[in-house]
Amino acid sequence: MSDTAKIEFNGQVHEFPLIKGTENELAIEIKSLRGVTDGLVTMDPGFKNTGSCLSGVTFLDGEKGILRYRGYSIEDLAEKADFLEVAYLLIFGELPTADQLQKFHEDIKANSMVDEDVKKILDAFPKTAHPMGILSSLTSALTAFNPSSVNVDSPEEMYQAIVRILGKFPVLVAWTMRKRTGLPLDYGDKKLGYVENILKMMFKMPNEDYEENRIIVDALDKLLILHADHEQNCSTSTVRVVGSSHAGLFASISAGISALWGPLHGGANQAVLEMLEAIKADGGDTKKYMAKAKDKNDPFRLMGFGHRVYKNFDPRARIIKKAADEVLGELGVDDPILDVAKGLEQEALIDSYFVDRKLYPNVDFYSGIIYRAMGIPVEMFTVMFALGRLPGWIAQWREMRLRKEPIGRPRQIYIGETFRDFKKLEER
Ligand code: ACO
Repeated sequence: MSDTAKIEFNGQVHEFPLIKGTENELAIEIKSLRGVTDGLVTMDPGFKNTGSCLSGVTFLDGEKGILRYRGYSIEDLAEKADFLEVAYLLIFGELPTADQLQKFHEDIKANSMVDEDVKKILDAFPKTAHPMGILSSLTSALTAFNPSSVNVDSPEEMYQAIVRILGKFPVLVAWTMRKRTGLPLDYGDKKLGYVENILKMMFKMPNEDYEENRIIVDALDKLLILHADHEQNCSTSTVRVVGSSHAGLFASISAGISALWGPLHGGANQAVLEMLEAIKADGGDTKKYMAKAKDKNDPFRLMGFGHRVYKNFDPRARIIKKAADEVLGELGVDDPILDVAKGLEQEALIDSYFVDRKLYPNVDFYSGIIYRAMGIPVEMFTVMFALGRLPGWIAQWREMRLRKEPIGRPRQIYIGETFRDFKKLEER
C-alpha cells in the first residue's frame, strides 16, 4: 500500500502523506493543501469524512460494532469495572490500582461542595425549565465560583481541575432534578460510593431514611459506563473546539452539554421515550409509525434508530437491551413500553428501508426504559447521559490541551453576495 495520496489540480500533482493509526485506520494529511494549491480547501458537511485530531482515548469500528476505551472492550468494562474506574481509565489512560482509585475518589469527594450561592441561580429558573438548560448554565456558572484558570503544564493543577468538576457535577445533576420535583437540595453523603451518592442525592426524601437499591445502583453504573465516551461525536467535538480557544474546563463542558441536548444526539433518549409513549397512546400501531418514518414528506424519524458511525449494530445497544430486560425483571416492573420498543425493533430489522440504510437501534433506544424503571423523570434522561459522558469530555479536553492542539477554526466556501456599494438609508 502506498504511503501517500495524490491530488491533481490545475495540471499539477500534489502528494500528501498518510497517517496510520494503531488500528490501521488511514487518513490523508492535508495540512499543506491550501499552501501548495493556492487556496484549495476540502468541503465535508457534517465532517463525515474528516478526522479532527489524533486521539488515544476511544477506538470504535462502526462496521464491526467495536467500541473500546483505552484498548479495553466496552463489553468487558460494562461487565467487570465500575464507573469511577472507567472514568480514571479514560482520563489518565490506565486502569487505576486500588490505592489510585481510593485517592481519586477521596479527592473527588473533597471537592464536592458547591457554593451555596449557586442555589440562588438555580432558584431563578422556572420549575418548567428543561434540566439540560439548567445544567449547562450551572456548569458555566461554576467558573465564576472557581475562577482560577488551569495551567495545563502543571499535572497537579490539571488533576485538581478534574477532581473539582467530577465532584461538583453530580451535585448539579441532582439539584436540577430536585428543582423539578420540588425537593429540598441535598449535598449527598461522603460515606457512599460515587454512583450510590448520586442516587441518594437525587432521590432522598426529607422525611424518611434513604434505602439503597443495589439493582438500581448497578444498572446506573452500567449505563454511565456505556455512555462514558464515544470519540469525536458532536458534544465531544464541541468540548474540544471550545477548549481549543483555551476557554476553561467548566466552560468547555458547559458547551458540550448544550451540544448533547439536541434530539439528534443525547436528546434522543428523551425523544425515544416520548415517541414510544405516543405510539402506545395511539393504540400501539407500530406499522403506522414505521410508515411515517419511511415517508420522506413526513418529518417523523424513528428516534433511537440510526447512527453516524455504527452501520451494523451499536454494541452498547446490545448490552442495554439485555440490561433493560434484567432490570425490569428484577424490579418487577411490567412496562408495556418495552413491548412497543421490541415490536418496532423487530419490524425495522426486516424492513428494507432500515436494512438498506443500515439503521439499527442505537444506545438510546432502550436506555430511557431503564431510566424510567428507576423513577427518573423523562426530562432528566439527557442529563443522565451528560453525567455518564463527563469523564469522556474531560479525557478528550485533557488530551487536546496536553497535545497542544491549535485552535479549531474551519474554513468555508462563501456563497453570499459579491461586493456591492453601500446605500444610505434614505436611498433604499
Ligand atoms: N428514521 C428514519 N429514517 C432515518 C433515520 C431514522 N431514525 N435515521 C436516518 N434515516 C434515513 C435518512 O432519512 C436518510 O435517508 P435517505 O438516504 O433516503 O435520505 C438516511 O437514513 C441516512 O440518514 P442521515 O441523516 O444522512 O444519517 P446521519 O449519519 O447524518 O445521521 C443520525 C445519523 C442523526 C443518528 C440519524 O440516524 C437520526 O436522526 N437518528 C434518530 C435520532 C437518534 O436516535 N439520535 C441518537 C444518535 S446516538 C447518540 O447520539 C448517542
